[in-house]
Amino acid sequence: DWTTGNIVEEQVERIREQVGTGRAICGLSGGVDSAVAAALVQRAIGDQLTCVFVNHGLLREGEAEQVEKDFVAATGAKLYIADEQERFLSALDGVTDPETKRKIIGREFIRAFEAAEAAIMAEAAETGEPVRFLVQGTLYPDVVESGGGEGAANIKSHHNVGGLPEDMQFELVEPLRTLFKDEVRAVGAQLGLPAEIVQRQPFPGPGLGIRIIGAVNEERLELLRKADAIARAELTAAGLDNDVWQMPVVLLADVRSVGVQGDGRTYGHPIVLRPVSSEDAMTADWSRLPYDLLARISNRITNEVDGVNRVVLDVTSKPPGTIEWE
Ligand code: XMP
Repeated sequence: DWTTGNIVEEQVERIREQVGTGRAICGLSGGVDSAVAAALVQRAIGDQLTCVFVNHGLLREGEAEQVEKDFVAATGAKLYIADEQERFLSALDGVTDPETKRKIIGREFIRAFEAAEAAIMAEAAETGEPVRFLVQGTLYPDVVESGGGEGAANIKSHHNVGGLPEDMQFELVEPLRTLFKDEVRAVGAQLGLPAEIVQRQPFPGPGLGIRIIGAVNEERLELLRKADAIARAELTAAGLDNDVWQMPVVLLADVRSVGVQGDGRTYGHPIVLRPVSSEDAMTADWSRLPYDLLARISNRITNEVDGVNRVVLDVTSKPPGTIEWE
């Protein structure tokens, strides 16, 4: 019967069987899933695992620093940081179609892991054994929504499922592939990961790249990063972090509207707030956040973020909307 302890033991056993004496790398995204997958694999094969954090330039404020601090402190795992902002931003240059963005990001993640592998092997030349395994924190809902489940339609290609290139050099290790988020959190807690990691709200691997509706560039990322940091800080200050599943903040980069600020006309972009409550991300409802909190977020974003003159609230459930806009 089902207990978290059983899942841990069973997966540790399976991972050992699959990997043997090989070496593995695990991409960390800063999120719950990849952290739990990494901790599980570390429990199974210890030093044969190197964690790789790819900074793809699509991160939120403070995210890279947080991975270094929280995850390494909790697990003692080996961490390799790859600065790949150039690679991703140039691959995404001018791309507006959501599925194309997702596939590009999925492909560049693999290319970044392959580059990391080369660097890791150069550092660890004496051990010989090349990296053959790539650990991913893929969950059951990711598989289903990418069209991998029985009879499922492809809704979105999650970067780590439908977005993988065919000529990839790695064998995948995906110990969470049959689990839902709440089970993953329980496994993480069982493995001793701190609440800051296991209770963290979900954030998609493609990051802010799929929260800019329109082409992705540095200027737009900078703007969205500021708006997102304000929204998150206010949600936390209101003590409501645990009341929402997640709150995507989205930039409508190709939409502009007329506004008035100070004594002049503006022609700026809208920011969308998308707070949702959910059990497993398969379905969701929009969160009824207090009006005064929404007002504070709106005031601060329009005052503090240049180029934004309007903040709107998404009041759509899933279905028919999805949680992310792309
Ligand atoms: P949607 O937008 O499909 O999102 O309702 C469901 C949940 O999945 C997250 N999400 C992703 N996570 N890679 C991820 O790691 C992805 O490509 C991806 N796309 C969506 C989303 O944030 C939500 O929690």
